[in-house]
Amino acid sequence: MIASYAFELGWHTPEIWAHDVTGDPLALLSDHAHCELQAAVACQALISRYPDRPRLVDAAAQVVVEEMSHFRRVVDLVRKLGGELTDGTSNVYAEQLRKGLGGTCRSGLLDRLLLASVIERRSCERFELLAEHAQQAELRKLYGDLAPEEVVHQNLFMDLAAAECGADEAKSRLAELLLIESRVAPLQAFANRMHAGPQGPTL
Ligand SMILES: [Fe+2]
Ligand SMILES: [Fe+2]
Repeated sequence: MIASYAFELGWHTPEIWAHDVTGDPLALLSDHAHCELQAAVACQALISRYPDRPRLVDAAAQVVVEEMSHFRRVVDLVRKLGGELTDGTSNVYAEQLRKGLGGTCRSGLLDRLLLASVIERRSCERFELLAEHAQQAELRKLYGDLAPEEVVHQNLFMDLAAAECGADEAKSRLAELLLIESRVAPLQAFANRMHAGPQGPTL
């Protein structure tokens, strides 16, 4: 583990996943690029929905810039490896997690922030595995560089949830969302995608 996290996941991706998922590096990178784009879009949506919360607006605006710089870096590597960005397909993992949203804070703000933090936490875990076990040196370098930056986002969203909605409420709702995530993540079908499940039986 490369950094200190605000919380731990309820299920850990097996190391072999990072080897398997890089069997088609261009497919993985293209999917990853769309994940970065969606992370930026989600932050823009937060700003639109909660413009009267200056701490949130400033933090989300900063994350938009950083996610788009990640997007740029991933697309550059896709092209360096001879590929091009392909169409994004729906992120079943994120959609299933959103079904667990309960709106415990005003207009669902708490869940939006906590879910962003949980997804960043899972991404950090995947990036760390890829930094070590990806089949290609270029991918090991990319994910080694990006993992620490997503750790910052994970902690930022957690801090925002506590500051905007109350630390006790954030902590107790986080436990519920982590439980949901630990059931959703391992059941995803295997594919060359960032939020794919592992090959073979997982439970
Ligand atoms: Fe990112
Ligand atoms: Fe991020």
